[in-house]
Amino acid sequence: MNKKHTELLDFDRQYVWHPYTSMSTPLPSYLVESANGVFINLASGEKLIDGMSSWWSVLHGYNHPKLNAALIEQSAKMSHVMFGGLTHQPAIDLCKTLIEITPIGLDRVFLSDSGSVAVEVAIKMALQYFHSKKQSQKHKLLTVKNGYHGDTFAAMSVCDPITGMHQIFDSVLMKNHFAPAPKAQLGEHWDESEMEELEQLFIQDHLEIAAFIIEPIVQGTGGMRFYHPNYLKACRLLCDKYDVLFIADEIATGLGRTGKLFACEWAEISPDIMCLGKTLTGGYMSLAATLCKAEIATTISEGEASCFMHGPTYMGNPLACALANASIDLLLNDNWQQKISLIEQQLQSQLLPLKESLRVEDTRVLGSIGVVETKQAVNVAKIQQRFVELGVWIRPFGKLIYIMPPLIITADELSQLISAIAYVLEDDECFN
Ligand SMILES: Cc1ncc(COP(=O)(O)O)c(C=O)c1O
Repeated sequence: MNKKHTELLDFDRQYVWHPYTSMSTPLPSYLVESANGVFINLASGEKLIDGMSSWWSVLHGYNHPKLNAALIEQSAKMSHVMFGGLTHQPAIDLCKTLIEITPIGLDRVFLSDSGSVAVEVAIKMALQYFHSKKQSQKHKLLTVKNGYHGDTFAAMSVCDPITGMHQIFDSVLMKNHFAPAPKAQLGEHWDESEMEELEQLFIQDHLEIAAFIIEPIVQGTGGMRFYHPNYLKACRLLCDKYDVLFIADEIATGLGRTGKLFACEWAEISPDIMCLGKTLTGGYMSLAATLCKAEIATTISEGEASCFMHGPTYMGNPLACALANASIDLLLNDNWQQKISLIEQQLQSQLLPLKESLRVEDTRVLGSIGVVETKQAVNVAKIQQRFVELGVWIRPFGKLIYIMPPLIITADELSQLISAIAYVLEDDECFN
């Protein structure tokens, strides 16, 4: 590490906020010089195999020639124009594709800047829909425990009240309804009685509930658990029965990660509203989309306000849309299912057996997602340092060491990620 790097890191430590990090006693940050393919290259010289896809966003690897070309080509035409009163082909092409590839019936698209905003938009759509139908008493949300939907205020109000990391804002958050988290895991025995408590909430409160929101199949930040598709199917039926809109938050699961293009496909359901984000641009830029059924858009547009009350400055940013078009094109034309299936098979054969370790509570795999749940919480600073020494980038939290590598990872590189996890499991210093 040279003097310039040390100065950069000193400034960073003193003045720059990082996600969920103290400014008084910050966790260390590693200075990145570049990233290429599956590798993150640190300024200090280490080359790390990326196990995190930069929080579910990088799909085809870093510095991808086709994505770079899309970005350069679009920037030579226009990097941005306002979306009020103007439109452009990158956004139109993207919306056309999203309507084509998402579950049936989702055929109106609202573009925004980040996952949390896409959730805000979804919630606002649901509330404005019932307001337009002169049913403004339907103004609450129903969700399940262990969920995570983002850090903005409406999104926080449907995150798990305890593990959602947002309890201190409790007094100002919308008071919503919470059902127990789904119990039966994917592949386990299904018992219909699991739905009883949730149905009870529908029965009691549906007159004031506008929408039910859930992460389909994978509860991510709230525990990295994969639940039974029949649960999702039953939720769809309950929403229909009690006139509640179904919002699927596919921000983490959308575009292939679980082995289906959208996790809703595991249960063969179509939500009324769907949120996408994270990997929409292949991990290059922030972009999100909220899709809804035509009837929702029409009802809102013919209601009191005669338009949907939202419009971010960077809505439909052409650079981000061009990247999303290029990334989805790469995904759909490049054997994505086979790639995910190979990663899944390797995770099953090499990561699942880590369950034998005395330190491990459970291991699970779905698509390109591999999870090791430990008995004790990790010491983030220490485990991170060990991973860097071992040449990998894995960022655990709580009791969860998880990976979802870019699809271009080779079998050898994936083995190195899994070996690094096996190694830290033997290291007392990495656990609290
Ligand atoms: C399921 C889900 N919804 C919403 C969000 C929020 O997205 P963003 O961080 O882009 O605001 C996340 C982020 O982790 C997520 O996993």
